[in-house]
Amino acid sequence: MRIGAISDIHLDVNIDYPIIKTIQNYTKAQNLEILLVAGDISNNYKTTLSYLEQLEGAVGIPVYFVPGNHDMWDREGEIKDARKIYEIYAKQSGCLCNKNVVLKKDWSIIGSIGWYDYSFGDPGYTIEAFEKREKNKRIWQDCIMVQWHESDRQFHKRMRDDLEEKLLACEGKNVIALTHMIGTAEFKVPDTRPDWDYFNAFLGSREYGELFEKYHVSYHFMGHVHYRKQLIKNGVDYRCVCLNYHTEWQSNDLAEEVASAIQIIEI
Ligand SMILES: [Fe+2]
Repeated sequence: MRIGAISDIHLDVNIDYPIIKTIQNYTKAQNLEILLVAGDISNNYKTTLSYLEQLEGAVGIPVYFVPGNHDMWDREGEIKDARKIYEIYAKQSGCLCNKNVVLKKDWSIIGSIGWYDYSFGDPGYTIEAFEKREKNKRIWQDCIMVQWHESDRQFHKRMRDDLEEKLLACEGKNVIALTHMIGTAEFKVPDTRPDWDYFNAFLGSREYGELFEKYHVSYHFMGHVHYRKQLIKNGVDYRCVCLNYHTEWQSNDLAEEVASAIQIIEI
C-alpha cells in the first residue's frame, strides 16, 4: 500500500496556483492509495472544509487530515471559541482528531493537531515571556486568531495525553503519526534567524517526539515549520512535508514543488 503525506498547502494564499490539480496528477502518477494532510489547508474553517472536499473528489482516494493552527483561525471573530471549530473538524469522516484508522491488521494511522508548550523556545526566556507571544513588536498571530479559552500549555497537554491514549489503542501495531506541530528539536527554525530563538516556542513540543519514540512509532509526518526535512532518530522516521507559501518555493515549477513536498511510504 502506497501512502503519501503533504502539509501546509495554504490553498487560499496559493489561490493563483492549481495546487489541487497538481496533487491529483502526482497522486495518480505515483499510484497512491491514501493521502495524508498534516494541516494548514487555509485560514478559515469554511474554506478548509470546502478545499478538503474538492481535494478528496479530485484524488479519488481516502484523504485523512488533521487541522493546523491556520485552519483554526477565526479572523472575523465569528465563532470566538476554537474548541467549536475543532469539534467541527473532528466530526468530519477524514479527520484524525477523534479516531484512529486501521489499515491492515498490523498498521494504524493516528493524528492530532498538536500544539505548543514553548519547549522549543530558548530556555533563557521565561514562561511569562512566551505567554506574551510577542517580541520586538512581532506578534505570533495565533494569539489573536485562535481562542482556546485555556493556555497554550494546557491545550498542548490535552493533545499530548490524547495522542498517548491513541498510541495505547494501537499497541502491537506499526503506527504512522500525523501532527501539524513538530515533535523534535531538529525541525526548529535555525536560531540564527532574527527572533527565532523566541518564536521557535510556538512550533510544537518535544513531548510528541518522546511519545513517538516511547511507543515505537514508525513514521511521523508533520507540517507547520515551512522547511522540508527528513530525519531518522531513535527508530522514528520524522518527515516535514510542507508545500509552503508560493513566495517560499525554491523553483518556478509547481509540479516540482509538490513532488518535493509529498513524502511517500510503502507498507
Ligand atoms: Fe503553514
